Amino acid sequence: MRRPFVAGNWKMNTDLNSAVALARAVSDGVNGLTRSMTIAVCPPFVYLKAVADAVKGSGVAVGAQDVYFQPNGAFTGEISVAMLKDVGCTYVICGHSDRRHVIGEQDDLINKKLLAVLAGGLRPILCVGELLEQRDANQTESVVEGQLRSGLKGVSAGQMGSVTIAYEPVWAIGTGRTATPQQAQEVHRFIRDLLEDMYGQQVAQATIIQYGGSVKASNAADLMAQPDVDGLLVGGASLKADEFLGILKASAGSADGLA
Ligand code: PGA
Repeated sequence: MRRPFVAGNWKMNTDLNSAVALARAVSDGVNGLTRSMTIAVCPPFVYLKAVADAVKGSGVAVGAQDVYFQPNGAFTGEISVAMLKDVGCTYVICGHSDRRHVIGEQDDLINKKLLAVLAGGLRPILCVGELLEQRDANQTESVVEGQLRSGLKGVSAGQMGSVTIAYEPVWAIGTGRTATPQQAQEVHRFIRDLLEDMYGQQVAQATIIQYGGSVKASNAADLMAQPDVDGLLVGGASLKADEFLGILKASAGSADGLA
């Protein structure tokens, strides 16, 4: 049984006070949930330390939304894996669609980041997902396969224990248009089959595959009830503590077979 993993990606939102308040509200509200599932919040870089301090002792982990692959040097504006570790991060989102499609990150850069995260002892969340025109042109599987294979280039089967995959159809992100549980399941199953092809059955069965894209408390349980949906990467709804806690509860329920 895979341990459910729900992460909140706060993107470029909050300020210092609201980030700490949100982190406290989440950590105060999780109660026993961290016993049965993994929970992380991913604030902007500048609030990582304050958020890590705020959630300390609650079992809620902290993740970064991005990283640079070089360890140090003349890379103005960038942040290294060691810096993220230093301020209490455990997870690092790699290749989020905002970075791919707004900032213009390509697969080879994403792969370098992911390898650096693993080498530094942190845990990457590799995001993959197709644009609407790619889905409409029946390219979902080829796009996802390309992103997955290049993102994981050079990653060993042993290292896969630290890797989470997030399937986030770009047309569902921030649009209110969630993939149906069936649409999510189809692609998650495809990803698990690919992982089996790349790493064998044991790794494929153990890897956490999150769904992301307009997840809310009201649709979390149906998504999590799908056999290959093991977790959620939540954007907008993770900015409201009650909504995020609702998602966590719905996800824990489905993990216990209660949903
Ligand atoms: P959303 O974002 O939940 O606001 O759609 C998801 C994400 O971008 O990770």
